[in-house]
Amino acid sequence: MSETPLKVLAVAGSMNRNSVTRVVINHVARQLTATGCSMDIVDFEKEPLALFNPDTAYDAPAFSGLKTRVEQADVILLGTPDYHGSISSAMKNFLDHFWREFAGKLFVTIVASHEKGLTVTDQLRTVARQCYAWTLPYGVSFQDNQDVKAGEIVSDSFKSRLEMMTRDLRIYGQLLANQRRADLHGTEPGFLARHRESP
Ligand SMILES: Cc1cc2nc3c(=O)[nH]c(=O)nc-3n(C[C@H](O)[C@H](O)[C@H](O)COP(=O)(O)O)c2cc1C
Repeated sequence: MSETPLKVLAVAGSMNRNSVTRVVINHVARQLTATGCSMDIVDFEKEPLALFNPDTAYDAPAFSGLKTRVEQADVILLGTPDYHGSISSAMKNFLDHFWREFAGKLFVTIVASHEKGLTVTDQLRTVARQCYAWTLPYGVSFQDNQDVKAGEIVSDSFKSRLEMMTRDLRIYGQLLANQRRADLHGTEPGFLARHRESP
């Protein structure tokens, strides 16, 4: 672990009051905090984000605070339910507000689905690619009433998948964050060169 803690922004992409996605995001956040990460959680049930409108979104009262939180993050942890084989509208709405802020960062994805959520994971990977973000080479999915019951994670196999994911998030998140910082301050022609502040 480096001296500066790895900063993780977790996004709970369900507005369901009893969301299982939120249960899992909060569980992972506790694990990451216990291993020295600095956690921030965006929960649209508690802090609604207006529907993205390119004409007004960047002047909306909630935007600049959220932008700072995204900018400060080294890793973006995205949790979404599977809605019609796709990401939730709340998650898409969040993602549509940003792209430059994601460039060079690691996306880690968790999907609540009855069908393994593969198409949902693929869509999050597509967004990552469009925004020049990295992803882990796998996503984690789980099923409500099987892996999570009454607000608790009850499946040992799911817990161990999450343990693997949090370990990989920390290790690869830190490696990529270090390289991102070096590239933003360097002079070599990598993909982050265009994100350097002009002298
Ligand atoms: C509008 C809607 C569409 C859904 N579509 C799917 C689907 O295509 N496949 C699936 O496995 N589950 C689907 N579900 C079920 C949710 O993904 C599932 O209940 C999930 O655990 C909800 O997560 P949450 O409690 O965090 O909101 C859908 C649920 C809703 C409300």
